[in-house]
Amino acid sequence: MAEHKKFENGFEYIEVTNKSARARIALQGAHLFHYERVGGKPFLWLSETSFFEEGKAIRGGIPICWPWFGKHATEPGLPQHGFARIFVWQLLEVNATDAYSTEVTLQLKTSAESLQLWPYRFELLLHITVSRTLTITLTTKNRDEHPFKIISALHSYFAVSGIDNVYVEGLANTPYFDALTKENRVQQGRVHITEEVDRIYQNVHYPLILHDRDRTLQVDGQGSSSAVVWNPWIDKCAGMGDMPDDGYKTMLCIETANALQDAQMPAPGEEHTLTAVIS
Ligand code: BG6
Repeated sequence: MAEHKKFENGFEYIEVTNKSARARIALQGAHLFHYERVGGKPFLWLSETSFFEEGKAIRGGIPICWPWFGKHATEPGLPQHGFARIFVWQLLEVNATDAYSTEVTLQLKTSAESLQLWPYRFELLLHITVSRTLTITLTTKNRDEHPFKIISALHSYFAVSGIDNVYVEGLANTPYFDALTKENRVQQGRVHITEEVDRIYQNVHYPLILHDRDRTLQVDGQGSSSAVVWNPWIDKCAGMGDMPDDGYKTMLCIETANALQDAQMPAPGEEHTLTAVIS
């Protein structure tokens, strides 16, 4: 079942419920901000002080960073992480495959507004499969006459019992760019979070496993060889208006990405698909 819902301020989302899971997807940003299996706890972290407002990204769930990641390379005044997460997408289809699985498809296309921010014609499709496994597939189609560069991420915020209880497995010996020190380093062993972390891993071999005290989540990326691991830690978290001061203790971002050397350059008529399978 899928219900079209609104918050009091009119902010719209779709709530999908089936025998496996429940999910909520905002039309702004095609932003999945809730997913939980029947009888289980939410997979995704959502800030209790997040904005659900036009033009502001939701803090939590899975924002879509596209067609650039972080600050724009040359124009710092443009929206951080691109515009896909703050534009309203069109809901194309909700398809209940069976009682246990629902597929939702949303689309974003070139508009006068997008051309002001990014001078290319494109079509983006996001397929979300809500079942025992959560699958998110972002397809970029180049509808322009020129190739364009896309740097993107499925910026997944995972809910954790306590940041001290978790570690990420699957990145040992993987090179990464440390966005805080601007150094290139190589991961030694598992990733434990004991301070602010903002890293872009390269040559990633999925799956990545998030171990928590009483749960293990697997992130399997396809069409991706880079992944971002981010936790703002104490000071940055305290400075964020849409995150409680202790929010950093209960979240960890593991983002299936196309970043740095893994940026994509589809030619006219070509497409690229980035997928995260979370189970
Ligand atoms: C992460 C980036 O993916 O997103 C960080 O690596 C950034 O550098 C973080 O701070 C949050 O970004 P935003 O725009 O949602 O506050």
